[in-house]
Amino acid sequence: MDRKNAFYAQSGGVTAVINASACGVIETARRHADKIGKVYAGRNGIVGALTEDLIDTSQESDVAIAALRHTPGAAFGSCRYKLKGLEENRAEYQRLIEVFRAHHIGYFFYNGGNDSADTCHKISQLSRTMGFPIQAIHIPKTVDNDLPVTDCCPGFGSAAKYVALSTLEASLDVASMSATSTKVFVFEVMGRHAGWIASAGALASTPERPLPIVILFPEIPFDQRKFLAKVKTLVERQGHCSVVVSEGVRNPEGKFLADAGYTDAFGHTQLGGVAPVVARMIYNELGFRTHWAVADYLQRSARHVASRTDADHAYAVGRAAVELALAGENALMVTIERVSDDPYRWRVGSAPLERIANVEKKMPETFIGADGFGITEACRRYLSPLIGGEDYPPYAGGLPCYVRLQNRPVPKLLDTPFHP
Ligand code: F6P
Repeated sequence: MDRKNAFYAQSGGVTAVINASACGVIETARRHADKIGKVYAGRNGIVGALTEDLIDTSQESDVAIAALRHTPGAAFGSCRYKLKGLEENRAEYQRLIEVFRAHHIGYFFYNGGNDSADTCHKISQLSRTMGFPIQAIHIPKTVDNDLPVTDCCPGFGSAAKYVALSTLEASLDVASMSATSTKVFVFEVMGRHAGWIASAGALASTPERPLPIVILFPEIPFDQRKFLAKVKTLVERQGHCSVVVSEGVRNPEGKFLADAGYTDAFGHTQLGGVAPVVARMIYNELGFRTHWAVADYLQRSARHVASRTDADHAYAVGRAAVELALAGENALMVTIERVSDDPYRWRVGSAPLERIANVEKKMPETFIGADGFGITEACRRYLSPLIGGEDYPPYAGGLPCYVRLQNRPVPKLLDTPFHP
């Protein structure tokens, strides 16, 4: 039987569990070695396909591939690279086809968020648009949790757990100091357009152990007067509070409070630095001593405190992508479907990529509390299972045993270099 090889690549901002999806893809393909040849990984995402820089994952031992499940970062390198439309840059598609044909690639698995779903969708259309037979399946991943249709996105649960844990622990710290020193802790988290990660900060407060926490969502225009009044009331009543602010918070004119002044390949504004802006505002206007932190890459790389649910989701979507391809499917994204909240039950599903690409799912109004600074019970029911369970990596010498693959290149077969 003519076994086609598979191409797998990682794209966009990485997560603590994206390699668990890689593990799901490679282990499943190995189990179906009668139908799938080798899995070639793109070095640095789709860029690796364009430059014919392919990694031969068959050179890695089963043990190394299994260790991907608990290793953060992107084992094959990721990218922010926008594949233009066919009309705008036909040469790129011709090059991809040349590379896929030369390496006998018939399956394309792309592991990423919204922008990457668009890339995957474009590839999935290659047989229709350019007569090249390929099956493309998107594997969801984004800490931002903003892909539509799927109940949640692998990567989010672990980032949410990190933010909930950090908010809890820092709140205990500020509570200890507040009588004579710091009264407000400001914590900046990711999520450029959607407040999913910020909302997880609210999980630090429970009915058994209530904590004063203010959430600033990108969905709600920042109202300085209302915000300062909220902080003042909490500090006067409880002595302290924590503020979890999304990097994507905007003023009423729609301008990011933390615009770093430059953009990436997709035209997205680079964000970061809203925490010191908010902390200074609190100090200047209310006179409260503050501390602030920017979670930045820590929140999306913290595999040591990953959510078990999230790691399980990530593995399952990788496995399902291969199974869908083997069932003859194309142009789909694997989804997570929630069956029940408590006990939490879920299953894997799928959705057409045309419903996914470039669509962002924001927090629904029913998840944001009436004053705009907290979450509702419905949101808590949604979030809680996603941070559920621990999945500690093995440790040695006090540090996690993260694997580094050999990443041996597949010999190049084309003699024409390509510069994306
Ligand atoms: O991929 C999503 C994300 O983690 C965003 O929340 C964040 O704004 C962005 O990536 C940062 O991207 P980069 O690492 O390319 O600066």
